[in-house]
Amino acid sequence: MKILVVGGAGYIGSHMVKRLQETKYQVEILDNLSTGHELNTQNYKLYKYDLCNKEEVYQILKENQYDCVMHFASSIDVQESFLYPKKYYENNVINTKNLLDCMVEAKIFKIIFSSSAAVYGEPKAKLLTEEHSINPINPYGETKAKVENMLKNYDKNHNLKFISLRYFNACGAHIDGTIGEKHKPETHLIPLVLQTASGRKKKISIYGNDYSTPDGTCVRDYIHVMDLVEAHLLALINLIKKNQSNTFNLGTKIGFSIKEIIEKAREITQSNIPYDIEPRRKGDPPYLIADNQKILDQLDWRPKYSSLENIIQTAWDWEKKLFKLND
Ligand code: UFG
Repeated sequence: MKILVVGGAGYIGSHMVKRLQETKYQVEILDNLSTGHELNTQNYKLYKYDLCNKEEVYQILKENQYDCVMHFASSIDVQESFLYPKKYYENNVINTKNLLDCMVEAKIFKIIFSSSAAVYGEPKAKLLTEEHSINPINPYGETKAKVENMLKNYDKNHNLKFISLRYFNACGAHIDGTIGEKHKPETHLIPLVLQTASGRKKKISIYGNDYSTPDGTCVRDYIHVMDLVEAHLLALINLIKKNQSNTFNLGTKIGFSIKEIIEKAREITQSNIPYDIEPRRKGDPPYLIADNQKILDQLDWRPKYSSLENIIQTAWDWEKKLFKLND
């Protein structure tokens, strides 16, 4: 089996590439290295192209006849998406359309797509099932919802089969310490909390403590990146075997508030992580927690790495490594 990982130089993509190789899949990477890291690609075949380079992308797909494409490449920062909605539309929607067109042209008809819990918007229930209404409250979530619709159309019109995985909050680092999260600039809560623990950051800002949650801070469903890629592997096997399109939530069904994250990070790092309360960030729902029954039942996925302890410990080991390298 030969798999193309689009965005394989990035945080989640690089964990996927490593996992596929361990499982003896033949794996290649397509990445423009705009936010991904070349170091993550050094043991693999890398095609350094942007998805707007349709001719080149088509040629790569045609020559290699991959059994499936896994598409991780996108712009991911909710706040930035309010500032530059056009960038999000182009990177996430237009470039995905380019990829799908090239796939159809090259006669490759299977894709696993990185969607997001951001498609749901304000939750109408504490646990979000896949049937919850799609009503994104930020441009980032809108682009993911648009791609999900596009995938349905390509299935109907071209018989292109997809599995769309709606991630909740991906976090943690590989347990062997070789790869982890490194966004520049970093905007995600856990790495920023740990940068505060290591001293790279003076204090952490909590965006809002007046939400309708037990301690007033936002509650999220944090899923370890290794559990996340394991679910992709199961999705890949399912898609190849059944050739049926499907959509799954990818979360743990457990939520933690920002204050709980800081508390656990204090315990693990033995560091006093100072914080300030700042105004709410635009586009942040109070709760985002997955009902994950569908993926448990249909893909037999079981999270193994997503205890808060393990998430923060692996992310902390990674932060200490970045701190040493001054990276
Ligand atoms: N937060 C802070 N201070 C910070 C950073 C974040 O208080 O310095 C808060 C946010 O306001 C939010 C929570 O911590 O309430 C988590 O924020 P992240 O930026 O870590 O993650 P988001 O929930 O905003 O978004 C992430 C991914 C999205 C995805 C979403 C799905 O970045 O791509 O999870 O749940 F859509």
